[in-house]
Amino acid sequence: MRTPHGALLLLFIVACLRGAYSGGGWSRFTSIISFGDSYADTGNLVMWADPVLPGLLLKNLPYGETFFGHPTGRATDGRLVLDFIAEALGLPSMPPYLARGSNFSAGVNFAVVGAPALNLTYLQGLNLTVNPPINSSLHDQLVWFQKLKPSLCNGQGTDCFGSSLFVMGEFGGNDYISFLLSNRTVEQARPYVPQIVDSISRGLERLVQHGAKYIVVADIFPIGCLPAALTKLASPNKVEYDRHGCLKSVNRLGRYHNSLLRQQIKMLRYKYPHTKIIAAEYYKPFLAFLDMPGDFGLNSSTTLCWKYALEEALLITTTSTQGAACRM
Ligand SMILES: *[C@@H]1O[C@H](CO)[C@@H](O)[C@H](O)[C@H]1NC(C)=O
Ligand SMILES: *[C@@H]1O[C@H](CO)[C@@H](O)[C@H](O)[C@H]1NC(C)=O
Ligand SMILES: *[C@@H]1O[C@H](CO)[C@@H](O)[C@H](O)[C@H]1NC(C)=O
Ligand SMILES: *[C@@H]1O[C@H](CO)[C@@H](O)[C@H](O)[C@H]1NC(C)=O
Ligand SMILES: *[C@@H]1O[C@H](CO)[C@@H](O)[C@H](O)[C@H]1NC(C)=O
Ligand SMILES: *[C@@H]1O[C@H](CO)[C@@H](O)[C@H](O)[C@H]1NC(C)=O
Repeated sequence: MRTPHGALLLLFIVACLRGAYSGGGWSRFTSIISFGDSYADTGNLVMWADPVLPGLLLKNLPYGETFFGHPTGRATDGRLVLDFIAEALGLPSMPPYLARGSNFSAGVNFAVVGAPALNLTYLQGLNLTVNPPINSSLHDQLVWFQKLKPSLCNGQGTDCFGSSLFVMGEFGGNDYISFLLSNRTVEQARPYVPQIVDSISRGLERLVQHGAKYIVVADIFPIGCLPAALTKLASPNKVEYDRHGCLKSVNRLGRYHNSLLRQQIKMLRYKYPHTKIIAAEYYKPFLAFLDMPGDFGLNSSTTLCWKYALEEALLITTTSTQGAACRM
């Protein structure tokens, strides 16, 4: 059996981090602080949901079934990449910020399912449908972080985040999906890519200014493989699809985002040489899942349905179009 690319990604991150602190005066990370969307949320949306989003399916099985045995608020039946990073670093899994009264000394998670990079008020001003329609963007999550910072740093002096690992993202996927769900074309979304990447970049700078020394930044997944895109832009024209059955134009948009993000990361590394900024690649490992689903324990007849459950969780009611996406 081949080594799963997901595991390679994880090993790479952990190896980078080990390398990052081998020269330092301390031996390990003591906490993880995470920002992101459904790829990272460990329970914030579900805690927000009552009474804002009644009937959220994320609260029910099969969510949580495979590993935890009960729904945890993760948008998966198993664990997230973040859970594996925590485990590899010998840390507990991060409690969601909204779980008041949790012990955040070994980490806290601000990620919210559906969170965009741009704020809700701005996206709605563009007449975009934001789902869920709550203030949970990257910058809202940073406001939460700022509120919690005094208690995180209580009695720790100025270098309070010297042994904290910050994980930023992914962010951006939900912004692009908002365009598509609002009947905009890929061409109409494209001019917003620099602004979306800039929002992530400004978030990273805020973290550096708050004293972050180690930041992992994730790129976005091939968004042209998401059922939301496959459904919204469904076309009888086969040339619009790649060999994975994903929409080429939407994936191009994602790659454009990722290339601008890489440029920003380079710029930030130059600007802040005392902070280690690590780029985590999700785009290519994701395609490997589609290439060889069996190698990763996935069912090849349903590989493109993987995000279906999440959409169902958000939209609450099932729509007939989702089945179409899964049959592709
Ligand atoms: C919080 O967790 C840390 C380690 O994860 C532990 O040392 C500390 O005692 C805990 N604090 C409380 C109040 O439980
Ligand atoms: C929302 O984003 C817009 C555009 O980036 C910005 O001008 C505005 O200040 C932001 N609003 C809040 C409340 O963050
Ligand atoms: C949003 O919709 C309103 C009402 O239809 C319209 O007046 C406005 O110009 C639209 N704004 C944008 C940015 O498209
Ligand atoms: C989101 O935040 C903005 C600015 O703080 C506020 O004006 C708006 O009402 C909020 N929206 C929701 C749905 O809470
Ligand atoms: C998008 O188009 C569909 C079909 O024409 C329509 O039913 C739907 O209301 C539109 N959605 C938005 C957000 O404009
Ligand atoms: C794969 O999914 C299909 C469609 O849901 C199902 O009929 C089949 O039994 C599944 N195969 C395995 C090995 O789980």
